[in-house]
Amino acid sequence: MNDAPQAPPGPIFPRWFDRFVKLLGLLLAGGVVFAVFMLAYAGSPSTLNVGYQPDQPVAYSHRLHAGELGIDCRYCHDGVESSSHAAVPPTATCMNCHATVRTTSEKLAPVFSSHRTGLPIRWVRVHDLPDYAYFSHEAHVRRGVGCVSCHGRVDRMEVVYQHEPLSMGWCLDCHRDPAPWLRPPEAVTKMDWMPDGDARETGERIRRELGVDPSTDCSTCHR
Ligand code: HEC
Ligand code: HEC
Ligand code: HEC
Ligand code: HEC
Ligand code: HEC
Repeated sequence: MNDAPQAPPGPIFPRWFDRFVKLLGLLLAGGVVFAVFMLAYAGSPSTLNVGYQPDQPVAYSHRLHAGELGIDCRYCHDGVESSSHAAVPPTATCMNCHATVRTTSEKLAPVFSSHRTGLPIRWVRVHDLPDYAYFSHEAHVRRGVGCVSCHGRVDRMEVVYQHEPLSMGWCLDCHRDPAPWLRPPEAVTKMDWMPDGDARETGERIRRELGVDPSTDCSTCHR
């Protein structure tokens, strides 16, 4: 009945099977890569780890120092405007005051011992991007992005915790549309600063005045 020419003798398995095996291989390899990424995610304290709040070696309180006492962030984090890193202050910065303030406090014992021995206090990092992502404080703080936009109300935190996801999507959301987040650069450390009127209008004005235009090129953050 069927007198169509026979297919020439070929491989035992039909061609679609070959393709199927290759596709399966790709899927498996993809799965492994995916799994590795997920593990890296889970293991990294910075990634999406909102609320991460490690124990610190000294009961240092931002609520007391930056809040009640009103010490400016830059008094201790003096790198924010001039370098990529904000930097955690050395013991000497604490001793500016504590050489005379609360000199018999138990809570300050690790500070005094660090001062005596010259060994730094081992503060535990709260925020930590993966090494393949580049970030700069200077680039943001000098362009009117306030600490509070990325770190929350630190002046109300007894112990600092991570307030924002610090994920790539979070970075890009603002890079695509920074206006609502901009303030006059002199107000970057004022935790309770509020725009006079509409946040977007104020931000758009600052954006024009300073010519703020964040890049979304991969090479901006992956160098
Ligand atoms: C008197 C000094 C001092 C002042 C003022 C101060 N800080 Fe800090 N800050 C520290 C010390 C010490 C640490 C490290 C210990 C810790 O994490 O609490 C720190 C840690 C931080 C961290 C977490 C760093 C990390 O490990 O990721 C952030 C964010 C931060 N400070 C923001 C601020 C902001 C915002 C202000 C102003 C509102 C401010 N700080 C004012 C001393 C200070
Ligand atoms: C500009 C001055 C100033 C600086 C700088 C400063 N402190 Fe203080 N700190 C104070 C004052 C004032 C108090 C006491 C507030 C009060 O009356 O309870 C205090 C209280 C403390 C206490 C609580 C002591 C207790 O017995 O309750 C700790 C802990 C402390 N500071 C740690 C630090 C550390 C760590 C640093 C450096 C990162 C630092 N301080 C830098 C002014 C300062
Ligand atoms: C645009 C978001 C953003 C702004 C604005 C910002 N930070 Fe950060 N901050 C980060 C990120 C992201 C990290 C983690 C950096 C890393 O791991 O390389 C960080 C880390 C830190 C650290 C830990 C030490 C370091 O440099 O890694 C401190 C302290 C800190 N910030 C303080 C501040 C203060 C104070 C201000 C305001 C003057 C501020 N930050 C403004 C996003 C921001
Ligand atoms: C709330 C807004 C906001 C967030 C969140 C934010 N950025 Fe930015 N970023 C800016 C603005 C505004 C600039 C300055 C653009 C300009 O100077 O024109 C900037 C500039 C930069 C620059 C400097 C580019 C250059 O040309 O030197 C880098 C790098 C950068 N951002 C990386 C990041 C990374 C990484 C994250 C996330 C961890 C992030 N940013 C999160 C607003 C933001
Ligand atoms: C504004 C900064 C910024 C820009 C622009 C950016 N990235 Fe990222 N990227 C990050 C940060 C921060 C992380 C780390 C996020 C984390 O820890 O979850 C990251 C992570 C990644 C990862 C690791 C996997 C993941 O999703 O976490 C890849 C891959 C990546 N970026 C590729 C790119 C490519 C491709 C581009 C250009 C289309 C790009 N990025 C542009 C900030 C940026």
